[in-house]
Amino acid sequence: MRVRGKNYKTVWMTAGSVHLIDQTLLPFRFKIIEAKNHRETCEAIRAMVVRGAGAIGAAAGFAMAQAFLEAPARGLAGYVEKARRRIESTRPTAQNLFYAVKRVFDGAAKSKDPKQAAVKEAAALVRQDEEDCRRIGEIGSRLLKDGASVGTHCNAGWLAFVDYGTALAPVYVAARKGKKVFVYVDETRPRSQGARLTAWELHNENIPHVIVPDNAGAHLLSKKKIDLMIVGADRIAANGDTANKIGTLEKAICAKEFGVPFYIAAPSSTFDLNCRSGRDIPIEHRSEDEVLYQSGPGTRGREEKILVASPGSGALNPAFDVTPAKYITGIITEKGLIKPSPKNIKRIIG
Ligand code: MRU
Repeated sequence: MRVRGKNYKTVWMTAGSVHLIDQTLLPFRFKIIEAKNHRETCEAIRAMVVRGAGAIGAAAGFAMAQAFLEAPARGLAGYVEKARRRIESTRPTAQNLFYAVKRVFDGAAKSKDPKQAAVKEAAALVRQDEEDCRRIGEIGSRLLKDGASVGTHCNAGWLAFVDYGTALAPVYVAARKGKKVFVYVDETRPRSQGARLTAWELHNENIPHVIVPDNAGAHLLSKKKIDLMIVGADRIAANGDTANKIGTLEKAICAKEFGVPFYIAAPSSTFDLNCRSGRDIPIEHRSEDEVLYQSGPGTRGREEKILVASPGSGALNPAFDVTPAKYITGIITEKGLIKPSPKNIKRIIG
């Protein structure tokens, strides 16, 4: 994606360092940070400097490669095992993280030159992420008629992957093909990935859009303002139940009630066939501060954090929910559009 006329990926690695767009500062500041070792990359994932399933996966794959590069010649196995556990404990829900760590670890472990193999495998993984998202964009764009209005939740755009994104990729492809598309962007409290990140991406790409409060979904769907919903996924179980940012489930139930198609867009690396249903997907709970405080440039333009709730009250902050397959019209993958059923998922992914 182009930012100020220059092409960027969300995350990349050079000479043992991982470079990341600091998503906690967007849309107010555009800053690249450098994580010099796997511990720093882990911290970036935990603090959501990098976020979104695919981007987390890419960063985790690079972190695993960094661990192989850092490991002492004697005791390499113990070092990388410990690093693997550290990386896997950063965030629990996005399957792409576990997929990436395993892929880089296994690729390096069976090689005679594990350091080089780890770097090579991480680079291949990132190239695949880009290619998968590009395909999802092509396949998903066929669902968008000229003049379509699309609803989306959270950010499953370029920033959530290495490039293109998943839920937004069909929008970008359709717009490049000359179709007019309008996007309703859920703000996505508490961290506002919709209002801050999706809106920023769409603005950069000149796609007409509007930010809507999270609680406007049912109203807009009932008034047929939205032709179809496309959202991303953090983990998809073998039966099609899908974990995505908190609030997705409400939108999916409302979409079904009002006859609006509800699509998930995700690459194969987001499917976890070890989870038989959504009940097996671990849900991350984050700090109550994310609900109680908001941050951004204050009136003097300096970053400020302000309390937006009654002082003394606590908050509950589950970061994801699970949408049962029965509410999902279809899943747009890089291998095609499928109806969410165990048979279809096994055929295409297994
Ligand atoms: O907590 P985040 O920002 O890492 O949340 C993950 C997401 O970005 C969303 O759930 C998204 O819709 C799917 S990830 C492509």
